[in-house]
Amino acid sequence: MEIINNAAEMHAWSKNRQKEGLIVGFVPTMGALHKGHIELVNHSVKENDVTVCSIFVNPVQFNNPDDLEKYPRTFDQDVAMLRDAACDLVFYPPVKEMYPEPVTRQYDFGILDKVMEGRYRPGHFNGVAIVVKKLFDIVVPNRAYFGEKDFQQLAIIRALAKQETLDVEIVSCPIVREPDGLAMSTRNVRLSKVQRVHASLIYNTLLFAKKMYPHTQPDELKKEVEQRINNNPYMQLEYFEISDTETLEPIGQVKPPKPVIACIAVYMGEVRLIDNMILNL
Ligand code: PAJ
Repeated sequence: MEIINNAAEMHAWSKNRQKEGLIVGFVPTMGALHKGHIELVNHSVKENDVTVCSIFVNPVQFNNPDDLEKYPRTFDQDVAMLRDAACDLVFYPPVKEMYPEPVTRQYDFGILDKVMEGRYRPGHFNGVAIVVKKLFDIVVPNRAYFGEKDFQQLAIIRALAKQETLDVEIVSCPIVREPDGLAMSTRNVRLSKVQRVHASLIYNTLLFAKKMYPHTQPDELKKEVEQRINNNPYMQLEYFEISDTETLEPIGQVKPPKPVIACIAVYMGEVRLIDNMILNL
């Protein structure tokens, strides 16, 4: 497995593979890899001739400097995991390689980046769009893999690909969970032992919402969820939203024919966890 730090070298590597007729799969990450990330790599390895994984903790998508500083960095372990997963190349650029000049670009995603994560993390999705566009320009992948764990991010990336007429197939992969249902996340390692035990309440609450959804009005369900989460001494609900899976608009009424998703963000101490579940499939 190769490791490349330089953008021009990375670009040339992909172009050369494509000249040989090979299909390039790409998995963008911020490192501190877990099984959720590796599943994306597994999908790419299966579906493409070569797989590139990027590791870049993108400063412009962090709206909280403390979160950026505390973001785990485990490069050697990541490389070992990627090698085991038969990844072909790791793109690991320093910040100045990605941002030789300050970034100013402002994307317009309409409502997609105003609700949920967009509302509570202003500027976050603009930073994600900036880095993903740059990574796509450098890596020029045929296919790129993203997890449904970050459902709203996936919607933003699909919108970005459409807006910029990017020639990349966006592939989404299901959420990988711990045995107790907690969605795998880089942030889980920051939970204390006792917080970690309680964290499965997030998944159980989504299951509860799924069970209740067909015969409960969204507003009532939201109140029930708020109570369940906030009654736990280790949790503070930031939002729970029931939304149309395509537009991400919150729904006012139960809509059986349209796919609807429940999205949740919870603070456990300083650690912020997100999760989601389709309610009516
Ligand atoms: P990061 O949080 O490292 O996640 C990289 C990819 O792994 C994302 O597509 C994310 O949805 C996916 N992922 C994380 N946990 C997962 C899980 N439990 N199951 C399935 N997939 C999971 O998301 C980012 O990085 C960044 O915003 C990035 C897109 C790399 C841009 O900087």
